Amino acid sequence: MKILSIVGARPNFMKIAPLAAEFQALPGVEHILVHSGQHYDEALSGSFFRDLGLPRPDINLEVGSGSHAFQVAETLKRLEGVMLERRPDLVLVVGDVNATMAGALAAAKLCIPVAHVEAGLRSFDATMPEEINRKVTDVLSAYLFASEASGVENLRREGVAEERIFLAGNVMIDTLLRHREASARSRVLLDLGLQAEGAEPCPYAVLTLHRPANVDDPAMLERLLRAVSSIRPGLAVVFPVHPRTRERMQAMAPLQGAGLMPLPPQGYLDFLHLMDRASLVLTDSGGIQEETTVLGVPCLTLRENTERPATVEHGTNQLVGLDPQRIVAAARRVLDGDFPRGRRPPLWDGHAAQRIVGTLMERLGAAAPAAHARS
Ligand code: UD1
Repeated sequence: MKILSIVGARPNFMKIAPLAAEFQALPGVEHILVHSGQHYDEALSGSFFRDLGLPRPDINLEVGSGSHAFQVAETLKRLEGVMLERRPDLVLVVGDVNATMAGALAAAKLCIPVAHVEAGLRSFDATMPEEINRKVTDVLSAYLFASEASGVENLRREGVAEERIFLAGNVMIDTLLRHREASARSRVLLDLGLQAEGAEPCPYAVLTLHRPANVDDPAMLERLLRAVSSIRPGLAVVFPVHPRTRERMQAMAPLQGAGLMPLPPQGYLDFLHLMDRASLVLTDSGGIQEETTVLGVPCLTLRENTERPATVEHGTNQLVGLDPQRIVAAARRVLDGDFPRGRRPPLWDGHAAQRIVGTLMERLGAAAPAAHARS
Protein backbone atom coordinates (compact mmCIF):
# COMPACT_ATOMS: atom_id res chain seq x y z
CA MET A 1 0.00 0.00 0.00
CA LYS A 2 1.33 3.43 -0.95
CA ILE A 3 0.59 6.46 1.21
CA LEU A 4 1.74 9.91 0.12
CA SER A 5 1.90 12.68 2.74
CA ILE A 6 2.40 16.37 2.11
CA VAL A 7 4.03 18.91 4.40
CA GLY A 8 4.91 22.51 3.68
CA ALA A 9 5.28 24.78 6.68
CA ARG A 10 6.72 24.58 10.20
CA PRO A 11 3.63 23.40 12.12
CA ASN A 12 3.25 20.45 9.73
CA PHE A 13 6.54 18.86 10.71
CA MET A 14 5.58 18.07 14.31
CA LYS A 15 2.26 16.65 13.10
CA ILE A 16 3.68 14.33 10.46
CA ALA A 17 6.54 12.98 12.62
CA PRO A 18 4.55 10.44 14.70
CA LEU A 19 2.50 9.37 11.66
CA ALA A 20 5.66 8.79 9.60
CA ALA A 21 7.06 6.67 12.43
CA GLU A 22 3.88 4.54 12.52
CA PHE A 23 3.93 4.02 8.74
CA GLN A 24 7.60 3.11 8.81
CA ALA A 25 6.92 0.35 11.32
CA LEU A 26 4.28 -1.26 9.07
CA PRO A 27 5.48 -3.93 6.67
CA GLY A 28 3.78 -3.60 3.30
CA VAL A 29 3.31 0.17 3.56
CA GLU A 30 5.37 2.52 1.44
CA HIS A 31 5.26 6.06 2.80
CA ILE A 32 6.22 8.85 0.40
CA LEU A 33 6.91 12.20 2.09
CA VAL A 34 6.53 15.29 -0.10
CA HIS A 35 7.64 18.77 1.07
CA SER A 36 6.06 21.64 -0.84
CA GLY A 37 9.03 23.89 0.01
CA GLN A 38 6.81 26.72 1.37
CA HIS A 39 9.17 26.87 4.35
CA TYR A 40 12.64 26.23 3.02
CA ASP A 41 15.24 27.60 5.39
CA GLU A 42 17.11 25.94 8.22
CA ALA A 43 15.26 27.82 10.97
CA LEU A 44 11.72 27.08 9.76
CA SER A 45 12.28 23.67 8.17
CA GLY A 46 15.71 21.94 8.20
CA SER A 47 16.25 21.97 11.98
CA PHE A 48 12.83 20.38 12.59
CA PHE A 49 13.64 17.37 10.43
CA ARG A 50 16.76 16.80 12.53
CA ASP A 51 15.22 17.50 15.96
CA LEU A 52 12.21 15.28 15.27
CA GLY A 53 14.15 12.48 13.55
CA LEU A 54 11.96 12.89 10.47
CA PRO A 55 13.11 11.12 7.32
CA ARG A 56 14.28 13.50 4.58
CA PRO A 57 11.42 14.25 2.20
CA ASP A 58 11.38 11.91 -0.80
CA ILE A 59 10.40 14.84 -3.00
CA ASN A 60 10.76 18.60 -2.50
CA LEU A 61 8.56 20.69 -4.78
CA GLU A 62 10.61 23.84 -4.00
CA VAL A 63 7.65 26.17 -4.26
CA GLY A 64 9.16 28.80 -1.92
CA SER A 65 7.66 32.10 -0.83
CA GLY A 66 4.96 34.04 -2.65
CA SER A 67 1.33 35.03 -2.43
CA HIS A 68 -1.21 32.45 -1.28
CA ALA A 69 -2.51 31.99 -4.82
CA PHE A 70 1.05 31.43 -6.04
CA GLN A 71 1.91 28.92 -3.29
CA VAL A 72 -1.32 26.96 -3.68
CA ALA A 73 -1.25 26.98 -7.49
CA GLU A 74 2.40 25.94 -7.78
CA THR A 75 2.00 23.19 -5.17
CA LEU A 76 -1.12 21.91 -6.93
CA LYS A 77 0.54 21.88 -10.36
CA ARG A 78 3.71 20.19 -9.18
CA LEU A 79 1.87 17.66 -7.00
CA GLU A 80 -0.33 16.47 -9.83
CA GLY A 81 2.73 15.19 -11.71
CA VAL A 82 4.07 13.48 -8.57
CA MET A 83 0.73 11.79 -7.86
CA LEU A 84 0.33 10.61 -11.46
CA GLU A 85 3.80 9.11 -11.37
CA ARG A 86 3.65 7.54 -7.88
CA ARG A 87 -0.03 6.53 -7.90
CA PRO A 88 -0.64 6.49 -4.11
CA ASP A 89 -3.61 4.60 -2.62
CA LEU A 90 -4.15 7.44 -0.15
CA VAL A 91 -3.00 11.03 0.29
CA LEU A 92 -2.58 12.26 3.84
CA VAL A 93 -2.52 15.95 4.78
CA VAL A 94 -2.14 17.58 8.20
CA GLY A 95 -3.17 20.93 9.67
CA ASP A 96 -4.27 23.99 7.74
CA VAL A 97 -1.40 25.49 5.74
CA ASN A 98 -1.36 26.11 2.00
CA ALA A 99 0.27 22.72 1.28
CA THR A 100 -2.61 21.01 3.17
CA MET A 101 -5.28 22.45 0.91
CA ALA A 102 -3.25 22.07 -2.30
CA GLY A 103 -2.52 18.43 -1.43
CA ALA A 104 -6.17 17.64 -0.80
CA LEU A 105 -7.23 19.33 -4.01
CA ALA A 106 -4.60 17.63 -6.20
CA ALA A 107 -5.58 14.22 -4.81
CA ALA A 108 -9.34 14.73 -4.99
CA LYS A 109 -9.09 15.80 -8.66
CA LEU A 110 -7.30 12.51 -9.37
CA CYS A 111 -9.92 10.55 -7.38
CA ILE A 112 -7.35 9.52 -4.76
CA PRO A 113 -8.90 9.33 -1.27
CA VAL A 114 -7.68 11.99 1.16
CA ALA A 115 -7.18 11.73 4.92
CA HIS A 116 -7.09 15.01 6.86
CA VAL A 117 -5.44 14.97 10.27
CA GLU A 118 -6.66 17.86 12.48
CA ALA A 119 -10.00 18.04 10.70
CA GLY A 120 -13.00 20.12 11.74
CA LEU A 121 -11.26 22.96 13.59
CA ARG A 122 -13.01 26.27 12.91
CA SER A 123 -12.27 29.82 14.06
CA PHE A 124 -15.36 31.06 12.17
CA ASP A 125 -13.14 33.89 10.96
CA ALA A 126 -13.06 33.85 7.17
CA THR A 127 -10.29 36.49 7.06
CA MET A 128 -7.80 33.89 8.36
CA PRO A 129 -6.10 32.15 5.44
CA GLU A 130 -5.98 28.94 7.50
CA GLU A 131 -9.79 28.92 7.94
CA ILE A 132 -10.22 28.75 4.16
CA ASN A 133 -7.65 25.96 3.97
CA ARG A 134 -9.42 24.00 6.73
CA LYS A 135 -12.86 24.21 5.15
CA VAL A 136 -11.74 23.32 1.63
CA THR A 137 -9.59 20.44 2.87
CA ASP A 138 -12.41 18.98 4.94
CA VAL A 139 -14.88 19.10 2.07
CA LEU A 140 -12.45 17.12 -0.08
CA SER A 141 -11.44 14.51 2.51
CA ALA A 142 -12.75 10.96 2.82
CA TYR A 143 -11.29 10.38 6.31
CA LEU A 144 -11.52 13.23 8.81
CA PHE A 145 -9.47 12.83 11.99
CA ALA A 146 -10.41 15.41 14.63
CA SER A 147 -8.05 16.38 17.43
CA GLU A 148 -10.77 17.59 19.80
CA ALA A 149 -14.53 17.28 20.29
CA SER A 150 -15.29 20.68 18.71
CA GLY A 151 -13.88 19.36 15.42
CA VAL A 152 -16.38 16.50 15.43
CA GLU A 153 -19.27 18.84 16.24
CA ASN A 154 -18.31 21.30 13.47
CA LEU A 155 -18.09 18.52 10.86
CA ARG A 156 -21.47 17.10 11.90
CA ARG A 157 -23.00 20.57 11.69
CA GLU A 158 -21.60 20.92 8.17
CA GLY A 159 -23.33 17.70 7.18
CA VAL A 160 -20.32 15.38 6.93
CA ALA A 161 -21.37 11.73 7.06
CA GLU A 162 -20.79 10.14 10.45
CA GLU A 163 -18.70 7.27 9.07
CA ARG A 164 -16.07 9.71 7.76
CA ILE A 165 -15.46 11.38 11.14
CA PHE A 166 -13.03 10.01 13.75
CA LEU A 167 -12.07 11.58 17.08
CA ALA A 168 -8.42 10.55 17.17
CA GLY A 169 -6.64 12.96 19.52
CA ASN A 170 -3.75 15.29 18.85
CA VAL A 171 -0.68 14.18 16.89
CA MET A 172 1.20 17.37 17.83
CA ILE A 173 0.92 16.27 21.44
CA ASP A 174 2.28 12.81 20.51
CA THR A 175 5.41 14.64 19.38
CA LEU A 176 5.57 16.86 22.45
CA LEU A 177 5.32 13.94 24.87
CA ARG A 178 7.92 11.99 22.91
CA HIS A 179 10.45 14.84 23.01
CA ARG A 180 9.82 16.50 26.34
CA GLU A 181 12.59 14.64 28.14
CA ALA A 182 15.15 15.41 25.41
CA SER A 183 14.08 19.07 25.43
CA ALA A 184 14.85 19.31 29.15
CA ARG A 185 18.54 18.89 28.21
CA SER A 186 18.43 22.04 26.05
CA ARG A 187 20.97 24.69 27.08
CA VAL A 188 18.95 27.54 25.66
CA LEU A 189 18.14 29.17 29.03
CA LEU A 190 21.80 29.04 30.09
CA ASP A 191 22.85 30.49 26.73
CA LEU A 192 20.34 33.34 27.07
CA GLY A 193 21.56 34.14 30.59
CA LEU A 194 18.15 33.34 32.10
CA GLN A 195 19.54 30.52 34.21
CA ALA A 196 22.81 29.84 36.00
CA GLU A 197 24.30 26.32 35.88
CA GLY A 198 22.58 24.15 38.51
CA ALA A 199 20.06 26.89 39.50
CA GLU A 200 16.39 27.45 38.68
CA PRO A 201 15.69 29.82 35.77
CA CYS A 202 14.63 33.38 36.61
CA PRO A 203 10.98 34.21 35.79
CA TYR A 204 10.44 35.04 32.11
CA ALA A 205 7.69 35.15 29.50
CA VAL A 206 7.72 33.80 25.94
CA LEU A 207 6.15 35.74 23.08
CA THR A 208 5.40 34.66 19.49
CA LEU A 209 3.54 36.69 16.88
CA HIS A 210 3.18 35.95 13.20
CA ARG A 211 -0.49 36.15 12.14
CA PRO A 212 -0.96 38.61 9.27
CA ALA A 213 -3.79 40.30 11.23
CA ASN A 214 -1.38 41.07 14.10
CA VAL A 215 1.89 41.85 12.37
CA ASP A 216 1.21 43.19 8.89
CA ASP A 217 -0.02 46.60 10.13
CA PRO A 218 3.00 48.32 11.76
CA ALA A 219 0.79 50.32 14.16
CA MET A 220 -0.89 47.14 15.43
CA LEU A 221 2.44 45.31 15.81
CA GLU A 222 3.96 48.22 17.70
CA ARG A 223 0.93 48.44 20.02
CA LEU A 224 1.21 44.74 20.85
CA LEU A 225 4.97 44.88 21.44
CA ARG A 226 4.63 47.94 23.66
CA ALA A 227 1.91 46.23 25.69
CA VAL A 228 3.97 43.09 26.21
CA SER A 229 7.06 45.08 27.18
CA SER A 230 5.14 46.94 29.85
CA ILE A 231 3.78 43.89 31.70
CA ARG A 232 6.22 44.18 34.58
CA PRO A 233 9.55 45.98 34.91
CA GLY A 234 12.43 43.54 34.79
CA LEU A 235 10.41 40.68 33.28
CA ALA A 236 12.41 39.19 30.41
CA VAL A 237 10.25 38.43 27.38
CA VAL A 238 11.90 35.85 25.13
CA PHE A 239 10.68 36.61 21.60
CA PRO A 240 11.64 34.22 18.77
CA VAL A 241 10.76 36.33 15.76
CA HIS A 242 9.10 34.78 12.71
CA PRO A 243 10.54 36.06 9.37
CA ARG A 244 7.25 37.77 8.46
CA THR A 245 7.34 39.69 11.77
CA ARG A 246 11.07 40.46 11.52
CA GLU A 247 10.50 42.09 8.16
CA ARG A 248 7.78 44.34 9.63
CA MET A 249 9.90 45.18 12.71
CA GLN A 250 12.74 46.46 10.55
CA ALA A 251 10.57 49.44 9.66
CA MET A 252 9.85 50.23 13.35
CA ALA A 253 11.80 52.36 15.83
CA PRO A 254 13.46 50.10 18.47
CA LEU A 255 11.52 49.76 21.72
CA GLN A 256 13.58 51.56 24.36
CA GLY A 257 14.20 49.93 27.73
CA ALA A 258 11.87 47.02 27.04
CA GLY A 259 12.54 43.56 28.46
CA LEU A 260 12.00 42.12 24.98
CA MET A 261 14.67 39.65 23.85
CA PRO A 262 14.20 39.22 20.09
CA LEU A 263 15.78 35.96 18.85
CA PRO A 264 15.84 34.06 15.59
CA PRO A 265 13.15 31.35 15.26
CA GLN A 266 14.11 28.52 17.62
CA GLY A 267 14.48 24.81 16.93
CA TYR A 268 11.82 22.40 18.24
CA LEU A 269 13.63 21.15 21.35
CA ASP A 270 14.90 24.58 22.45
CA PHE A 271 11.48 26.15 21.95
CA LEU A 272 9.75 23.35 23.84
CA HIS A 273 12.15 23.92 26.75
CA LEU A 274 11.53 27.68 26.63
CA MET A 275 7.76 27.10 26.90
CA ASP A 276 8.08 24.40 29.54
CA ARG A 277 9.93 26.63 32.03
CA ALA A 278 8.15 29.94 31.26
CA SER A 279 5.96 31.77 33.78
CA LEU A 280 3.72 32.83 30.93
CA VAL A 281 3.37 32.42 27.16
CA LEU A 282 1.78 35.07 24.93
CA THR A 283 1.03 34.00 21.37
CA ASP A 284 -1.14 34.16 18.27
CA SER A 285 -0.14 30.65 17.15
CA GLY A 286 -2.58 27.74 17.06
CA GLY A 287 -0.18 24.97 18.03
CA ILE A 288 1.29 26.83 20.99
CA GLN A 289 -2.16 27.08 22.60
CA GLU A 290 -2.25 23.27 22.56
CA GLU A 291 1.33 22.71 23.67
CA THR A 292 1.03 25.05 26.69
CA THR A 293 -2.19 23.28 27.70
CA VAL A 294 -0.32 19.99 27.95
CA LEU A 295 2.71 21.57 29.63
CA GLY A 296 0.37 23.23 32.17
CA VAL A 297 1.91 26.65 31.40
CA PRO A 298 -0.47 29.64 31.35
CA CYS A 299 -1.09 30.92 27.82
CA LEU A 300 -2.59 34.24 26.74
CA THR A 301 -3.76 34.16 23.14
CA LEU A 302 -3.60 37.53 21.41
CA ARG A 303 -6.58 36.89 19.13
CA GLU A 304 -10.33 37.40 19.32
CA ASN A 305 -11.10 33.76 18.52
CA THR A 306 -9.60 30.31 18.58
CA GLU A 307 -10.23 27.25 16.44
CA ARG A 308 -8.99 25.21 19.40
CA PRO A 309 -11.64 25.77 22.12
CA ALA A 310 -10.52 22.69 24.06
CA THR A 311 -7.45 24.67 25.16
CA VAL A 312 -9.75 27.22 26.84
CA GLU A 313 -12.38 24.74 28.12
CA HIS A 314 -9.91 22.19 29.47
CA GLY A 315 -6.51 23.83 29.36
CA THR A 316 -4.51 26.85 30.44
CA ASN A 317 -5.38 29.10 27.51
CA GLN A 318 -7.20 32.44 27.80
CA LEU A 319 -8.32 34.50 24.83
CA VAL A 320 -7.36 38.08 25.60
CA GLY A 321 -7.80 39.79 22.22
CA LEU A 322 -5.72 42.71 21.02
CA ASP A 323 -6.52 45.48 23.48
CA PRO A 324 -3.22 46.50 25.18
CA GLN A 325 -4.81 47.20 28.58
CA ARG A 326 -6.57 43.86 28.60
CA ILE A 327 -3.36 42.03 27.63
CA VAL A 328 -1.31 43.71 30.36
CA ALA A 329 -3.99 43.17 33.05
CA ALA A 330 -4.37 39.48 32.14
CA ALA A 331 -0.59 38.96 32.14
CA ARG A 332 -0.21 40.58 35.56
CA ARG A 333 -2.95 38.35 36.97
CA VAL A 334 -1.12 35.28 35.67
CA LEU A 335 2.18 36.43 37.18
CA ASP A 336 0.35 36.90 40.50
CA GLY A 337 -0.72 33.25 40.33
CA ASP A 338 -4.31 33.76 39.16
CA PHE A 339 -4.80 31.50 36.10
CA PRO A 340 -6.68 28.31 35.13
CA ARG A 341 -4.58 25.24 36.06
CA GLY A 342 -6.10 23.14 33.30
CA ARG A 343 -5.97 19.48 32.38
CA ARG A 344 -5.36 17.58 29.18
CA PRO A 345 -8.27 17.31 26.75
CA PRO A 346 -9.47 13.75 26.10
CA LEU A 347 -7.18 11.64 23.88
CA TRP A 348 -4.23 14.04 24.03
CA ASP A 349 -2.31 11.08 25.37
CA GLY A 350 0.58 10.46 22.99
CA HIS A 351 -1.22 7.76 20.97
CA ALA A 352 -3.15 9.74 18.35
CA ALA A 353 -0.94 8.67 15.42
CA GLN A 354 -1.34 5.04 16.42
CA ARG A 355 -5.14 5.39 16.39
CA ILE A 356 -5.13 7.21 13.05
CA VAL A 357 -2.88 4.71 11.28
CA GLY A 358 -4.83 1.83 12.83
CA THR A 359 -8.10 3.21 11.48
CA LEU A 360 -6.62 3.83 8.03
CA MET A 361 -5.19 0.33 7.81
CA GLU A 362 -8.52 -1.16 8.83
CA ARG A 363 -10.42 0.87 6.23
CA LEU A 364 -7.89 0.70 3.40
CA GLY A 365 -6.94 -2.90 4.08
CA ALA A 366 -10.40 -3.93 2.95
CA ALA A 367 -10.54 -1.48 0.06
CA ALA A 368 -6.98 -1.91 -1.25
CA PRO A 369 -7.34 -5.21 -3.18
CA ALA A 370 -10.33 -3.88 -5.12
CA ALA A 371 -8.49 -0.64 -5.96
CA HIS A 372 -5.46 -2.60 -7.16
CA ALA A 373 -7.63 -4.97 -9.18
CA ARG A 374 -9.01 -2.01 -11.12
CA SER A 375 -5.63 -0.47 -12.01
C1 UD1 B 1 2.60 29.74 7.36
C2 UD1 B 1 1.19 29.15 7.49
C3 UD1 B 1 0.68 29.37 8.91
C4 UD1 B 1 1.63 28.83 9.94
C5 UD1 B 1 3.00 29.48 9.71
C6 UD1 B 1 4.03 28.97 10.70
C7 UD1 B 1 -0.27 29.23 5.48
C8 UD1 B 1 -1.48 29.87 4.92
N1 UD1 B 1 0.23 29.81 6.60
O1 UD1 B 1 2.50 31.14 7.49
O2 UD1 B 1 -0.56 28.69 9.04
O3 UD1 B 1 1.17 29.14 11.24
O4 UD1 B 1 3.41 29.17 8.38
O5 UD1 B 1 5.27 29.53 10.46
O6 UD1 B 1 0.20 28.26 4.94
N2 UD1 B 1 10.03 32.88 4.93
C9 UD1 B 1 11.36 32.75 5.27
N3 UD1 B 1 11.88 31.50 5.32
C10 UD1 B 1 11.15 30.39 5.02
C11 UD1 B 1 9.80 30.55 4.68
C12 UD1 B 1 9.24 31.79 4.67
O7 UD1 B 1 12.05 33.72 5.53
O8 UD1 B 1 11.69 29.27 5.08
C13 UD1 B 1 9.43 34.23 4.88
C14 UD1 B 1 8.69 34.47 3.58
O9 UD1 B 1 9.52 35.03 2.62
C15 UD1 B 1 7.57 35.40 3.99
C16 UD1 B 1 7.30 35.03 5.44
O10 UD1 B 1 8.40 34.25 5.87
O11 UD1 B 1 8.00 36.74 3.97
C17 UD1 B 1 5.99 34.29 5.60
O12 UD1 B 1 6.04 32.98 5.01
P1 UD1 B 1 4.73 32.27 4.39
O13 UD1 B 1 5.08 30.92 3.96
O14 UD1 B 1 4.12 33.17 3.40
O15 UD1 B 1 3.65 32.18 5.53
P2 UD1 B 1 3.74 32.11 7.13
O16 UD1 B 1 3.40 33.45 7.65
O17 UD1 B 1 5.03 31.50 7.56
